[in-house]
Amino acid sequence: MKLVPKMTVTGLAALLFTAVLPRAAAAEADVKTERLWKVKCASCHGADGKGKTETGEKLGIPDMTTADWQKKVTDAEAKTAILDGFKRPDKKDGMDGYKEKLEPVQVDALVAHVRSLGK
Ligand code: HEC
Repeated sequence: MKLVPKMTVTGLAALLFTAVLPRAAAAEADVKTERLWKVKCASCHGADGKGKTETGEKLGIPDMTTADWQKKVTDAEAKTAILDGFKRPDKKDGMDGYKEKLEPVQVDALVAHVRSLGK
């Protein structure tokens, strides 16, 4: 009989370490990336990624939430755009690169964020 509560406690501790804590850390990372997106990217792309901002309209920024856009732009292309900037040859203005301004982990997190916009 004494074993039962002990096992429950161990079970709970195991659950905490394997399930709850990593998820909490991931949630915090998401919040940070969301904030980063809002500060650095949303002025053009919009908080929701639809590009319906004043600058977005002016520069013809596409809606990143559509299945079409998600299919067209690969992770590698998104990463290159964030690092080196992106400008269509037929347009005067585009996006500056963030190579000097962001850590590599932040760039990867933003690529994942861009992907999540399509879900
Ligand atoms: C000054 C406005 C501006 C800001 C700020 C901006 N972008 Fe962009 N971004 C653009 C424009 C313009 C394009 C090209 C749109 C087009 O013609 O398809 C673009 C394209 C992209 C693309 C797609 C590239 C491709 O291959 O089609 C990604 C991914 C992207 N931006 C991510 C980001 C992220 C992440 C940030 C923040 C770190 C950011 N952008 C900040 C203007 C901006």
